[in-house]
Amino acid sequence: MKITISDLSIPASGGLAVGVLEGRILTATGQKVDTATGGALSRAIGSGRFKGARGEILEIHAPVGLEVTPLLAVGLGKPGDLTDLGMEAVGGAIAKRFNGAGVTSGAIVIDAIKGAKLATANMAARAAYGAKLGAYRFDRYRTQEKPEKKPSLKTFEILTRAVATARKLYKPLSAIADGVILTRDLVSEPANVINPKTLAQEARKLSKLGVKVEVLGQARLKQLGMGALLGVAQGSANEPQVVVMHWNGAAAKTQPVAFVGKGVTFDSGGISIKPSGGMEDMKWDMGGSGVVIGLMKALAARKAKVNAVGVVGLVENMPSGTAQRPGDIVTSMSGQTIEVINTDAEGRLVLADVLWYTQKRFKPKVMIDLATLTGAVIIALGDLHAGLFGNSDELCDRLGKAGLAVGERIWRLPLASEYDKLIDCDAADMKNVGSRGAGSITAAQFLQRFVAGVPWAHLDIAAVTWSKKNKPTVPKGGTGFGVRLLDRFVADYYEK
Ligand code: BES
Ligand code: MN
Ligand code: ZN
Repeated sequence: MKITISDLSIPASGGLAVGVLEGRILTATGQKVDTATGGALSRAIGSGRFKGARGEILEIHAPVGLEVTPLLAVGLGKPGDLTDLGMEAVGGAIAKRFNGAGVTSGAIVIDAIKGAKLATANMAARAAYGAKLGAYRFDRYRTQEKPEKKPSLKTFEILTRAVATARKLYKPLSAIADGVILTRDLVSEPANVINPKTLAQEARKLSKLGVKVEVLGQARLKQLGMGALLGVAQGSANEPQVVVMHWNGAAAKTQPVAFVGKGVTFDSGGISIKPSGGMEDMKWDMGGSGVVIGLMKALAARKAKVNAVGVVGLVENMPSGTAQRPGDIVTSMSGQTIEVINTDAEGRLVLADVLWYTQKRFKPKVMIDLATLTGAVIIALGDLHAGLFGNSDELCDRLGKAGLAVGERIWRLPLASEYDKLIDCDAADMKNVGSRGAGSITAAQFLQRFVAGVPWAHLDIAAVTWSKKNKPTVPKGGTGFGVRLLDRFVADYYEK
């Protein structure tokens, strides 16, 4: 689907969406369309439950007087309540409607709205962004789907008087959407396609955008002493990889911001094997690394004025004759030893070495990791918020604000020395699991033992990486949660 922003006019054919404000108040173009259709629009919106609240859509087929069909009346709510996120949702919902209606071209008119706090150009850009995010579908492997069941839209037009500004505003948003889409694609691919090496290959492709990509193979990881990461990987036929991505958009001497991702391309649990029901979900246990790769794409594509490094630890967690056993003791790159009580608590083992490596090599201003780390965070917060942990109030505060601004909400959970004690161990410096309670917290405490002084935050994205529900800008499947949040975090606090 191609998204274009063009000058305001009433299209000759295809689908057309016009705004209606709360109280069934037609926008300027709505009035024109109403006149052209002999009042069909106002009769339609006046005859049912439609009030013009944000999110309502009324579909009118083949209205007299115009060749357009379907004509969509789109509720925008009250002018003063219009927001970026609201307009994104409108764009996403409309694109989906057109896709379902079977039209190949569709347009939405963005009129200036009196009393709105948003500029018209921004409303248009946000609608375009929402359409790009909302129209996404992972359908590479649906080879037998009938054409009439497939999304039909080839072109989606945003029509506005503020074309030039809207296009300028949309450009970076489109780049961010490309990052989100890459993350969704990577997360959706099955584990027979995406393994550590093929995922590293996907990351390498970012070099086209000016990202410097380094791939560390097994031999190098051994040299570096990444015993915790290597222990997880040793049961798999697929060799582990660590990928380092550099985006240098600021002065060479500026310390970077670092992003670290858990990239378990399949988590069977290892010898502590998971139950088979739902195990297929563990193809997206590389979600944290997917976000870091998508974020680096977004930053590079919009040429962000920041130095950022993304580091992802890629392994497959499998049971086999060479697999790590419960009770094994591994030595991490930091020198700290770990008794592996449960081989299914593997993400923290991978991150232990990657966090250590990242801060030692890059001395970042801040370090943020993302991981589908614990089932417990799903129990604690459901999928409305991702879990946030950190050693810096300022950093956590900034992340929380960025999340609210983009509609990716996160909620801080506590760290405390009493929780840290739960992973003390007689046999080694620590064990990789705590007791029954506070599972997400003890996992975060474990990570914190590999953080040496840098401001650090950890996002447990286990509940938000995959969605079973369709939302206007987040179709079901891989969500890309985290890309928009961290892009906004960078834009608001590190590009000024
Ligand atoms: N990848 C899982 C966590 C997970 C569970 C992500 C469900 C998404 C959905 C992680 O590696 C894991 O297995 N964690 C264990 C830890 C336990 C053994 C202490 C868990 O949460 O059960
Ligand atoms: Mn696991
Ligand atoms: Zn895992």
